[in-house]
Amino acid sequence: MVMTETPKHIAVLTSGGDAPGMNASIRAVVRCCAYYNVQCTGVFRGFEGLIEKEFKVLDARSVKNLINRGGTFLKSTRSDRFLTEEGRALAFQNLRDEQVDALIVIGGNGSLKGAQILGEEHQFPVIGIPATIDNDINGTDQTIGYDTALNTVIEAIDKIRDTASSHNRLFLVEVMGRNAGDIAVSAGIGAGAEEILIPEQNLGKERLIKSLKQSQKSGKTSSIVVVSEGKRTGKNIIRLSKYIMKHLPEYEVRVTVLGHIQRGGAPSCYDRVLASRLGVFAVETLLNHTANMMVGIRNKDMVTATFEESLTNRSKINEELLHVAEITKI
Ligand code: F6P
Repeated sequence: MVMTETPKHIAVLTSGGDAPGMNASIRAVVRCCAYYNVQCTGVFRGFEGLIEKEFKVLDARSVKNLINRGGTFLKSTRSDRFLTEEGRALAFQNLRDEQVDALIVIGGNGSLKGAQILGEEHQFPVIGIPATIDNDINGTDQTIGYDTALNTVIEAIDKIRDTASSHNRLFLVEVMGRNAGDIAVSAGIGAGAEEILIPEQNLGKERLIKSLKQSQKSGKTSSIVVVSEGKRTGKNIIRLSKYIMKHLPEYEVRVTVLGHIQRGGAPSCYDRVLASRLGVFAVETLLNHTANMMVGIRNKDMVTATFEESLTNRSKINEELLHVAEITKI
């Protein structure tokens, strides 16, 4: 969408699962607006707050001491009402009443989909900033929060390894990622996991047993298996642990579900810089009269991508990473 008028008032919200670096991104949006003398309004509680008119004017000082904080000070929700046409019409009306000219949505694929629909239904200028620990958005090489989550996961697995090797145990460690195995693969390589099980690659339980036997034969006394979460956190991994205990009774198996600790904590430097760059670029894209796109990073450069491209054709898991994992586990 090409805008004819330069926006004078921009609103910003965070939506969906929070991700470390969201605060840094809001901060960059607010300060970029202040830099260009554009009014900035923060919307609390994501799309739900858009429907409920939970607005607050933000200036450069309202976002002090935020760059280092995890979570999102604007709060976040997964809004059921925004999934309905009536909910979106109300949200649009509230933006009009508040004289907001454009909206920046910081979130994962569900949130960006919401932004896309709002923009299309009401011809309202919207920009999406990809922020999710899952890293499951096409159109950007990396999402805000992914790097921090990886560091959290490897720190946790390093600790688990200490106790695993002391007791000669096999640990199954469940990580988040929804339908994407990115966290499992990168953290698995980074933490030296013996096996990595991801949704994109169903290799079967028999192969896992074979591989664990092989690793035992090669002299390993303890093992870490990183498992991507299933549809319900913690459910599949318990079933898997029972299967392993049945087929490898000599193994002492323990399960750790890392859960929501992966979403918390201070953002890494990489995420702070990425979030700051994307926040500034989002505002400048609007000021350059372009809207209804997602901003992202490609080969270290800031880029725009259509929502359609960003939310479909999710690129497959990096085969080279799987190859490295396969070689380094022996
Ligand atoms: O999308 C981020 C994420 O943390 C996923 O990895 C996970 O599947 C989901 O959100 C958990 O959602 P909730 O916080 O609603 O349980």
